[in-house]
Amino acid sequence: MTINPNIVSLIDRCERLWAAEAEVVRTYWNSPRRTAETDRLWLVRQMYKELLDGALPSLLWARDNFDGVGGSGSRAEFLEEVDVLREEFIHYMGFAEVFEALSGTTPSADALRDLGAWPENDRLQALRARHRQEHGVLGLRAQRFTEGGYCTLYSEGMKLASRDGIDGMIARACSVVFNDEFGHMLRGIADLAGSVDSLSEAEWSTLGGLVEEQLRHRVVMRNAQFSGPVASDRLAAITSGACDPLPFDYLRAFGQTPSRA
Ligand SMILES: [Fe+2]
Ligand SMILES: [Fe+2]
Repeated sequence: MTINPNIVSLIDRCERLWAAEAEVVRTYWNSPRRTAETDRLWLVRQMYKELLDGALPSLLWARDNFDGVGGSGSRAEFLEEVDVLREEFIHYMGFAEVFEALSGTTPSADALRDLGAWPENDRLQALRARHRQEHGVLGLRAQRFTEGGYCTLYSEGMKLASRDGIDGMIARACSVVFNDEFGHMLRGIADLAGSVDSLSEAEWSTLGGLVEEQLRHRVVMRNAQFSGPVASDRLAAITSGACDPLPFDYLRAFGQTPSRA
């Protein structure tokens, strides 16, 4: 089965924005603004994302759907959600260990609600909620598709592996997360691939617009998470597509490369 050309076009629209998010993280590692304090800040924010944006929704879903577990479909669905919960919790643990090495202590989950939230992340979540509200299932698909942002935080973090100290710890935490998050992104793509025939051309076009808007917000969210390593003029350029595309790994995702007309 060939890869649907609408999926290829959608991925084409993402590649420069994925590269922009990667540039933010890469710039931070060697930024003169980087201090132990900015490291603690991005780590606590990442712990928030893994625990409260990542693990908690699955935990609540499992609690709310526990009584309905019975037939094989519901058992499989429940297990899948519990697997996500476990993975996101392990991601949280990875960043919590780095934070603890820097600070000696770790905030409780409850304290993270205040310490780990930041306005640009809140705005991204609000944008996704608005897309879900205004566009229903298309909004949800856009969210699933943009979650993880092609894992660029983790792939850029893994490149610190040759360094000692905190950077080596960051690289190890990121390598644990990378494979899981690539899988989470593939689930979003598989979800889309399962419904390609039911979407009209107009819906594909809308979906592309929603995805691009969410990805642009992700770049801004990430730059704020890391205390603004990319200056505002460059940030405006890269959120408008100034980066070279970051090529999508079609072989890993689909076991084949697309045939382009
Ligand atoms: Fe995660
Ligand atoms: Fe995830």
